[in-house]
Amino acid sequence: EKGGYDHFMLKEINEQPRSINDCLRGRLNASEGQLTLGGISDYLSKLRQADRIIIAACGTSWHAGLVAEYIFEEFCRIPVEVEYASEFRYRNPVIHEGDILIAISQSGETADTLAAMELAKSRGATVLGVCNVVGSSIARISDAGVYTHAGPEIGVASTKAFTAQLSVLSMIALKVAQQKGTISETRFREMLAHLEQIPAKVEEALKSEEQIRGISELYQDAKNFLYLGRGYNFPVALEGALKLKEISYIHAEGYPAAEMKHGPIALIDEEMPVCFIATRDGSYDKVVSNIQEVKARKGKVIAIVSEGDVLIPKMVDHVIEVPNTHEAFMPLVATIPLQLLSYHIAVMRGCNVDQPRNLAKSVTVE
Ligand code: M6R
Repeated sequence: EKGGYDHFMLKEINEQPRSINDCLRGRLNASEGQLTLGGISDYLSKLRQADRIIIAACGTSWHAGLVAEYIFEEFCRIPVEVEYASEFRYRNPVIHEGDILIAISQSGETADTLAAMELAKSRGATVLGVCNVVGSSIARISDAGVYTHAGPEIGVASTKAFTAQLSVLSMIALKVAQQKGTISETRFREMLAHLEQIPAKVEEALKSEEQIRGISELYQDAKNFLYLGRGYNFPVALEGALKLKEISYIHAEGYPAAEMKHGPIALIDEEMPVCFIATRDGSYDKVVSNIQEVKARKGKVIAIVSEGDVLIPKMVDHVIEVPNTHEAFMPLVATIPLQLLSYHIAVMRGCNVDQPRNLAKSVTVE
């Protein structure tokens, strides 16, 4: 059942070229310039006219929501608020009729996310679901939605569900942008072509596994880890840190790289591994300066870079290359080495990666 892998988590990490493909298939056709999202087709005009979009989720699904915020704002020019479902439901939030709430959930059973939807619905908002489990509670209470089609995810650490969520949210954003006219037809087609190539790029990124195993050996006894990224890669930093802490029990924090100098920089010494997501995008030069700041304080730097980068390898302790893509889709690729890093560190520490202590696959109590 683990398909020859030692753990479900590793199987699910390796399944991603296929699970992303399954998610895109039948929806995206780049050569025809077509994008069809049957589940929400009746809600596209509402989305196009929305004054704002609220995204509610927990954990890794919340990270997918943060990436979606950047994509929706860039391409659709609709303001987006990403909410921890648990906070949203209890703070008497301002919700208007005409607001749209998108709930993101692998299991479709997360109690707080479900309650956030019920609240939004009771105040007249439209609620859309991005779920993996077909027929789940969240899928059933949604007005409409798009399934992620990643297949069953057994490992408690979410991996393939996350990349499928990013794929679905990217498609929704592109579709809305097309309808709204906030993206040109040429750019729309280019973006579809980028998205279609993601499964092959994820396949390529998986090839770094041996190298990542080597890096994991060096850092398996670390007490702390920092993950830093900017722009689209900021949520990837959060996700990398969450993955490491939940399965290896190493304390890890993710930050937007520029926030480092507002506090976390005080933690940096020769004992502190810092993982930068430093791919070639609009924030590249800024991230390079942040790397220099860490190296000046003798931090150990592991950098996820775009293939062919010649600058960063000269500055850091370890580089892991990933294929390049449009920056909006980089989280789909850049998250792969971070999944593998946390997996290998956890295995080396003798942790139960598929069922970490104290954690349940779906959190059905608040
Ligand atoms: O099933 P959901 O996507 O609603 O679950 C949300 C979180 O509980 C979940 O992502 C959790 O953070 C994972 N263990 C992360 O790997």
